[in-house]
Amino acid sequence: RTAPVPVLTIDGPSGSGKGTISRQVAEHLGWRLLDSGALYRAVGYAAGAAGLDLSDAEAVTRCAQATKIRFQPSADGSDTRILVNGHDATDELRTETAGAAASAIASIVPVRQALVELQLGFRKAPGLVADGRDMGTVIFPDAPFKVFLTASAAERAKRRYKQLKEKGLNVTLASLQREIEARDHRDASRAVAPLRPAPEAVLVDTTGMSIDQSQQAIAKLKPGAIVTG
Ligand code: DC
Repeated sequence: RTAPVPVLTIDGPSGSGKGTISRQVAEHLGWRLLDSGALYRAVGYAAGAAGLDLSDAEAVTRCAQATKIRFQPSADGSDTRILVNGHDATDELRTETAGAAASAIASIVPVRQALVELQLGFRKAPGLVADGRDMGTVIFPDAPFKVFLTASAAERAKRRYKQLKEKGLNVTLASLQREIEARDHRDASRAVAPLRPAPEAVLVDTTGMSIDQSQQAIAKLKPGAIVTG
């Protein structure tokens, strides 16, 4: 029997630094990366593009089952593009609107079920870094390494504000913090796969920490020490 492919799960709320940290840790380890939030964003986006009512569970479920989502390196290899039904939707998926749509459709149980196989398929040698809300609790409960990243809502709003300003988007800090708190509440209080740390997850609070410092906290778990084959 060969050893199972190792998985490092990194769960936490949006703005905890998950996305950047997961990408860098995956690069450092030479492991694959699963950005599970992008899958929910893609389904929300596809449902919106099809003119569906996001609270129509049956229609959104059919949409989730039919939507083709592909991660593809950009032509110059500098980033990953996300194709939704063949259309490069990377930029649209990053918006607050897409995040809110994702959060709305993510509470529909059969929508989550429609995305399970796709997520499990990312587990390939030499290893996987899985970024999301329920990676350690639901999708990869047997993962040998689990991290739960947090940061205060005020800190996360500040980080998001900086990112969006750099992109030239017109937002206010106060409205961002309100949106973040509302989304946290929805994600943590939903009946299915609520946002919460797996019992054995290592908690890392990144408030006041740099990306490098956060990465060092994760490196202490020594996921790179695992050798498969
Ligand atoms: O990580 P993110 O901001 O891209 O996620 C967008 C939304 O998708 C988030 O509000 C909740 C949902 N989501 C989820 O329910 N389960 C996941 N594993 C990842 C994201």
